[in-house]
Order: sequence, then structure tokens, then C-alpha cells
Amino acid sequence: MFWKSLFPGAIGSETPTGIGEHELLITEFVAANGERIHVYFSTTRDIDVYALEALCDAVGWAKRPLRKVRKALEFSFLIGSLWQERGQNRRLIGFARATSDHAFNATLWDVVVHPEVQGKGLGKTLMRQMIRELRREEISNITLFADPQVVTFYEELGFHPDPEGIKGMFWYPS
Ligand SMILES: CC(C)(COP(=O)(O)OP(=O)(O)OC[C@H]1O[C@@H](n2cnc3c(N)ncnc32)[C@H](O)[C@@H]1OP(=O)(O)O)[C@@H](O)C(=O)NCCC(=O)NCCS
Repeated sequence: MFWKSLFPGAIGSETPTGIGEHELLITEFVAANGERIHVYFSTTRDIDVYALEALCDAVGWAKRPLRKVRKALEFSFLIGSLWQERGQNRRLIGFARATSDHAFNATLWDVVVHPEVQGKGLGKTLMRQMIRELRREEISNITLFADPQVVTFYEELGFHPDPEGIKGMFWYPS
């Protein structure tokens, strides 16, 4: 497959495609059969919880009750998704969401890119778009919880572990 990055991922380098205010053409590539495949970022498309859980399942995350996933989506501040489109077919290949107090703080959750298309810069672009959307809402403090194996991924995007010695702390029911 030949991947052509239309937008290398730098914040501000995107161009609206005209298909929707919050839809951006991120990348296009040509499949082995010569078919052109496009990847879009969206903040407005409806998310099918079955497709989302299939995506999370593909990276080995534990299954979650769909009722709770629906509720989490409903009460999220921002939902970003990546879609692979060939002809009339579209497929969810990336996802991230943020919860927020709508003023100062937002926390990112469920950042995921399908294993078939990982390592092509889509995760970075997805994250940069999420940051861009949150900054547009004047949110200045963006936090997340990084699995140990992805700390470098987030550091490269400008996230700092334990800034000024601040530690993330967790309470779980015993
Ligand atoms: C983490 C994830 C979203 C990254 O998406 P991706 O599309 O593969 O990432 P990109 O191709 O944009 O990679 C961007 C950079 O991060 C690096 N990177 C990607 N995944 C990485 C990982 N697991 N560990 C360390 N670095 C990683 C890449 O090497 C790349 O570096 P480069 O720009 O110097 O080449 C994706 O691997 C994924 O969905 N993983 C499983 C779910 C997960 O762990 N989510 C995070 C939960 S906290």
C-alpha cells in the first residue's frame, strides 16, 4: 500500500474538505488493487457502540457493558473518530474522547487506532486534532492516563509525566 500523508499532523496544517465543519481529510492511500482509500477525522459522526467495542477489542482491551459505553459517549465533551472510506463503505479505525468541566480542564480517554493501520501517523494526527478542538474551546489543562508502553507516544505530543512533581492518584473500591 502506498500512503500519502496530506496533512503531516502539525496543528494548524489541516484544510477543511467541505464535507462538514468538523470533518477533515487526513490521509489517502492506494490499496494493492489500485483502489483509492481516504481517512477522515470527525467530531460529529455518530459512533456505533458495537463498532467502537470491536475496535477496542482489536487492541486487546477488556470488554465493557455497552449500556455504560453509550452513557460514557453521551456525557463526553468531545468525541473524535477516524474513518477509513473506500467508495460508499466507511469503517471506524480510530477513536478518542474527552471529558471536561467545559472551562479549564479536559481528560482524554479511549485513545485507539486499529492495529491494521497503526504506525502510519494516524494516532498522532488524532491526538493533535483532539488537542486542537480542546484549545478551540479554550481548555488549557489537558490530562490523560498513559499505559506504560505509550508514554513515549504521548511525550512526543507534548505531554509531561508528573509535571512539577504532581502525581496521578487513583482510588479503586477494595
Ligand atoms: C497508541 C496508539 C493510539 C498510537 O497510534 P498509531 O497510529 O500507531 O501512532 P502513530 O503512527 O501516530 O505513531 C506516532 C509516534 O508514536 C510512536 N508510537 C506509536 N505507538 C507507540 C507505542 N505503543 N509505544 C511507543 N511509541 C509508539 C510511533 O513510533 C511514532 O513515532 P515517530 O513519529 O517517531 O515515528 C496505537 O498504537 C494504539 O491504538 N495502541 C493500542 C491502544 C493504546 O495503547 N492506547 C493508548 C492507551 S493510554
